[in-house]
Amino acid sequence: MKSERANFGSKVGAILASAGSAVGLGNIWRFPYETGSNGGSAFILLYILFVLMLGIPIMIAEFVVGRGSQANTGAAYRVLAPGTRWKWAGFMGVMAGFLILGYYSVVAGWTLEYMARAALNGFAGKTPDDFIAIFTDFSQNPFRPVLWMALFLLGTHFIIVKGVKKGIEKASKIMMPLLFIIIVILMICSVTLPGAEKGLEFLLKPDFSKVDSGVLLSAMGQAFFSLSLGMGCLMTYASYYSKNTNLGKTAFSVSIIDTCVAILAGLVIFPAAFSVGISPDAGPSLIFITLPNVFQQAFGNFPVVAYIFSVLFYVLLVVAALTSTISLHEVATAYFHEEFKLTRGRAASIVTAGCIFLGVISSLSLGVMKGYTLFGLGAFDLLDYFTAKILLPFGGLLTSVFVGWYLDKKIVWDELSNRGSLKVPFFKLFIFILRYVAPVAIGFIFINELGLI
Ligand code: PHE
Repeated sequence: MKSERANFGSKVGAILASAGSAVGLGNIWRFPYETGSNGGSAFILLYILFVLMLGIPIMIAEFVVGRGSQANTGAAYRVLAPGTRWKWAGFMGVMAGFLILGYYSVVAGWTLEYMARAALNGFAGKTPDDFIAIFTDFSQNPFRPVLWMALFLLGTHFIIVKGVKKGIEKASKIMMPLLFIIIVILMICSVTLPGAEKGLEFLLKPDFSKVDSGVLLSAMGQAFFSLSLGMGCLMTYASYYSKNTNLGKTAFSVSIIDTCVAILAGLVIFPAAFSVGISPDAGPSLIFITLPNVFQQAFGNFPVVAYIFSVLFYVLLVVAALTSTISLHEVATAYFHEEFKLTRGRAASIVTAGCIFLGVISSLSLGVMKGYTLFGLGAFDLLDYFTAKILLPFGGLLTSVFVGWYLDKKIVWDELSNRGSLKVPFFKLFIFILRYVAPVAIGFIFINELGLI
């Protein structure tokens, strides 16, 4: 059974596919608006702290469970802890993947609409008010966003059906370098705009007086979301790693790439937004309302540059989103494929259909179904809040307790050292963080946010 499992063909492929999962709308859409709504650079520092303190160790722990079990997330805990309730942790991960894809694909669909509009030169000559109206009309429309969402999921489906090596790995190898090149070009243009310094200041001068429990929870949630942690996404990918992949090094590379892209996205968006006097706390619409406007205003005298800039930016978003939707889709597809012995194609179809259904509800919750709320939130916001701020940190907590306390340390050591062939100087620190630091930190932030202390 083990030797039949799919594998990534190369180390670079494994790293790029995992980085492709991590780098996504979380970096370019969610990170800037969360940073903007949570006061700027103090949030960024906390976010980086969470990446280092919790993200990297928990990512390594997910790798250990994934490669150690050679199974999809739904089965991984069961393989390593047969006959226990740990299997629910895996099951929860698969569910979380569904729920995230159910609203993430809506935003991914928006990126297609904006890419098409940019390509057709639909932003030329528009005013800031026009951009607000365009986004509001579009996102509340009952049909267009739904169609784009379904199209995006079908594109994801198409790549997933091709399999691990020919689909996921190949797509990531092309898209990740492309993404990096585009974002660096955009960053250089953005920081050289007149008045960009204010944006840089917003990013670089921390104001800790704004930090409260909500900001802490947001920074932690963002770290989990952005690194694709807490739901077994990288666990599934790690089950496709070869025996020789260095798990510790891979986790560092993926986390560094992901954090760099988030910061680069901040360096694209804030200098540009401040340069044309747009408020950074616009929320989820930030990059859809401000950015096209920024391009028009900043390059008003050079319409061709404005055109190229806008098209590049939305291509970047589509590419980033696609490598992440692939990874979210793969978690559930691998689960149905392996657990219910369905063909890959059939498993993928179930996932696609389920996600389109959720996607329709979350898309409509921004328009015609606005009145339907739970805890004061519509489906779209609820899915975002519930997954990023609750399910993912909770999933991360379970993984750290599983690897730190439950799993035989010999298995953990074997995975990290590739059965003794690598040195693992950080082993003790790693176990210490999983046992004490991660559960206490996550638990503390949950309790604090619930207002229990
Ligand atoms: N990390 C992805 C992003 O930043 C989103 C994601 C979350 C993907 C959880 C997989 C699992 O866009």
